[in-house]
Formats: sequence, structure tokens, C-alpha cells
Amino acid sequence: MIKHIPVLLNDVMLMLGDIRNRTIVDCTFGAGGYTRALLNAGAKVIAFDRDVNVEQDAEQIKQEYGDKFTFINSAFSEINKLKSDDFDDVIFDLGISSMQIDNPERGFSFRFDAPLDMRMDKRLNINAAELIQTISVEKLADVLYEYGDIKKSKLLAGIIKKSLPTTTFQLRDLIKNPHDIAPVFQALRIAVNDEMGQIESALNSVHSLLRPGGRCLCVTFHSIEDRIVKNTFRQWASVSGDPRLPNIVNPEYRMLKVITPSDSELEKNPRSRSAHLRGVEKKL
Ligand SMILES: C[S@@+](CC[C@H](N)C(=O)[O-])C[C@H]1O[C@@H](n2cnc3c(N)ncnc32)[C@H](O)[C@@H]1O
Repeated sequence: MIKHIPVLLNDVMLMLGDIRNRTIVDCTFGAGGYTRALLNAGAKVIAFDRDVNVEQDAEQIKQEYGDKFTFINSAFSEINKLKSDDFDDVIFDLGISSMQIDNPERGFSFRFDAPLDMRMDKRLNINAAELIQTISVEKLADVLYEYGDIKKSKLLAGIIKKSLPTTTFQLRDLIKNPHDIAPVFQALRIAVNDEMGQIESALNSVHSLLRPGGRCLCVTFHSIEDRIVKNTFRQWASVSGDPRLPNIVNPEYRMLKVITPSDSELEKNPRSRSAHLRGVEKKL
């Protein structure tokens, strides 16, 4: 059974080009869909995932590919511990996997009743229920507004702080507008896992570590992370995005074409629907 259908995999492979004898850092191992494709195309892979549950799949790949594959069970912000010489290219397939969202016990989904956990990594100190208990109502409103685009975020934050839900269904039942349920769950998940801080920190390290000719690719799933990646890559490639501002001549990076899923991928895998693939290359 396929646990997680890799999104935009063909496009990722095309964007990376000939990767024989290159070493790729797969920052988001998940079910190993990207990692396997990279290994099969002749690359070596160093993979990160902060979720300990993926270790069995990583172990299986290790047995098949030996020292062509290294797995690191930590947050991808730890890419700063690698050296420039350790790798050629980097890929991120952001967000959570189907294994995480479809596992009732993890508390990511409002479809199942479960403790309100939402940690990708159980070593994180605070789960979603504890986050709600410990942050101020103002901060909770900011989280809902910034990461979930909830319009009446102050009102909803007040309702949530009053009830202090500890299960997914308790939280779901506090949200009166059904359109707000998924965004509220997304917002809390992003805050619990500091997802935006992770991306910013890892991209910062990639910027200083990537060698000339190296590529950095990101698959994003919602507008907040996509904006961070887009603006970061534009900055690296000195593309202002504003026609009134001049672009710097001869920047260090060049942007690659943005790709979204084809109709046939959308049909086969509806979870790919909001995906964007963005890439940059450090010039030789
Ligand atoms: C969308 S899935 C990746 C799927 C993978 N590309 C595949 O083909 O199977 C995202 C994975 O990244 C992991 N992840 C998300 N944020 C992370 C972070 N900051 N550090 C390490 N792993 C992270 C999640 O635990 C999850 O397993």
C-alpha cells in the first residue's frame, strides 16, 4: 500500500536534471518517495525528518542502498551542521505527510477524535492543547490570523481560550463557521511546530552552504510558506518583483520556473491541489 503519494515528483526530478553522482539533501523524508527516486536516478541522499515514526522506512532504504543513504532524525534546521562539501542540492517537500494526517492519534485532523497534539516531533515540549493553555489570547488571535487567515481571529481566540479544548473534537465544535475549521487546525499546527521559523532558518543555512551549480527546490502547500519561499528566492536572485525597482545586475542565484500540478496529477492525488514547486540555482 502506498502510504503517501509524492507530490510533483516528476517535476522535481526534471528540475534537478542529471543527478548521477550528486549528493542531495532531502529535508523532508516522509515516506521516502523523493529519496527513493533520487537514489534510483544515481544520486546519494542525506535525508532529514523530525518524525521518529518514519525511521522504519528509512531503515528499509538503508538496507537497500547502504552508504548511498544517510538518515538524520531531526529538524531540517539542523542542515546548518552540514558542510558545503557534504552536498550538491537540497529539496524540501513541506508540510505534513498522509501518514501524519491520517493517523487519528496524532491530533492533526478534525476528522478523528483524539488528544490535541499536532507535534511532528514528540521531543517538542509543547503540544497544541498546551500551546492554547499557555499563550495569551492576543497571541492566539495572531496565530489564527497569520497562519489561518481567520478574519474574526480575536473573537475565536477568546472562545478557544475560555474553553481550553484538549481534544480535536472539542476544538472543532468551538468553531462555528465550517470554512474556518481546516484553517484553524492548520494555524495551530504551524505554530506548534514553528514551521515558518524552520523554513527561514534552513533556507538561511542553504544560502550560505550551497556550492556553485547547486540547486535548492521547495514544494509548498499553502500561501504562507509559499510567500516565504518565493520572497527568499527572489532576494537571492535579486528579483525585486516590483517593476518600478531595478534588478541587481549579475546576482549569485537564478530562479527556475514555478511549477504547479498538472490536471492528471490533480485527478490522481487531490492532496496536491495547492502545491507549488519553486527552485533556484547558484550560478557557476
Ligand atoms: C509532505 S511530507 C514529505 C513526503 C516525501 N517527500 C515523500 O515523498 O514521501 C513532509 C515530511 O516532512 C517532515 N517535516 C516537516 N517539517 C520538518 C522539519 N522542520 N524538519 C524535519 N522534518 C520535517 C514531516 O515530518 C513529514 O514527514
